[in-house]
Amino acid sequence: MTNRIWNFSAGPAVLPESVLAEARDNLLSLGDTGVGVCEHSHRGKPFVAVAEEAEALCREIGGIPDNYKVLFLQGGASSQFAMVPMNFLSAGQTADYLVTGSWSKKAVKEAKLFGNVNVACSSEDTTFNYIPKTQSWSEAPRYVHFTSNNTIYGTQFASEPTGYADDAFLVCDASSDIFSRPIDVSKYGLIYAGAQKNLGPSGVTLVIVREDLVESGNSELTSMLQYRTHANADSMFNTPPTFGIYLMMLVFRWIKAGGGLAAMEQKNKAKAQCLYDYLDSSNLYSATAAPEDRSLMNVTFVTGDADKDADFIAKATAEGFNALKGHRSVGGMRASIYNAFPEAGIDALLQFMKDFEATA
Ligand SMILES: Cc1ncc(COP(=O)(O)O)c(C=O)c1O
Repeated sequence: MTNRIWNFSAGPAVLPESVLAEARDNLLSLGDTGVGVCEHSHRGKPFVAVAEEAEALCREIGGIPDNYKVLFLQGGASSQFAMVPMNFLSAGQTADYLVTGSWSKKAVKEAKLFGNVNVACSSEDTTFNYIPKTQSWSEAPRYVHFTSNNTIYGTQFASEPTGYADDAFLVCDASSDIFSRPIDVSKYGLIYAGAQKNLGPSGVTLVIVREDLVESGNSELTSMLQYRTHANADSMFNTPPTFGIYLMMLVFRWIKAGGGLAAMEQKNKAKAQCLYDYLDSSNLYSATAAPEDRSLMNVTFVTGDADKDADFIAKATAEGFNALKGHRSVGGMRASIYNAFPEAGIDALLQFMKDFEATA
């Protein structure tokens, strides 16, 4: 595929080429059915087989225990900001939120519509460039919500928060690092992720939720907003995002063939390390995230001079490096290097950065 360029987009993001090629072939006919993957009824055998394989592979790759439901929903991670409190938080109850970026802030805003929010910690004082190491937990939170990887600021939790009340369950927005490393699902009550970074195209949202919680959710909500509706119907209560689920299935096959989550983590660590090592040794660039909290998925950096940053981005774009501009709220540069981002693209970027530094 000669006309593809290095795509550092934060999401929707690069997908494995083999996955895209297979999807392209199946757009016209899914296998030998003579009907394209987007044209099949979600209730017909061919698509049901796709959905079943997607769920089975998701469970296998993620080591998801049997007492968890795997749901393929719509509405993006942003809908989960609301669906979580809507289902689990009632007036008078409190949920603890770890505020490590603007996505967590948006989650807080939605939760406040349904109950009390205790902000257990926040790194907003320094534009979210670190993960707070201490929290002030409320006495009896219904759940604890955190964002495992902060896409905009390039920070990532090294491990799950601990120390909150035993009765509370952990909720994670894992949109930008889901399946980038092994995960112990049993530590969580609910994990959600928009697919468009590590799992597939936009339009499908993965939710992994403990069964007893599904049962405990508010049953007075409109059907589409109750987890139980989707859990009871195997994500087929209404027409699911069929193409997204299909592509996710292909990505899961790709992850499995690539050695699973341990192998993904190894590759992700190696890719990110190359960039951070160079940033740390450079006289021009510096990484913006606190060293111990650096993300393996989104590498954020600056030159310290906004004009130079703009020059860097313009020249990089001209050389075929897509979407290196930092998020509009923080400026600078961001290289998003999710699972499917190839090592060769890291080498190419490093060379470009060195050449730019030599002439800057
Ligand atoms: C960590 C995180 N959470 C939530 C979102 C919002 O996701 P969506 O656009 O699927 O609603 C994003 C989008 O980039 C994100 O990075």
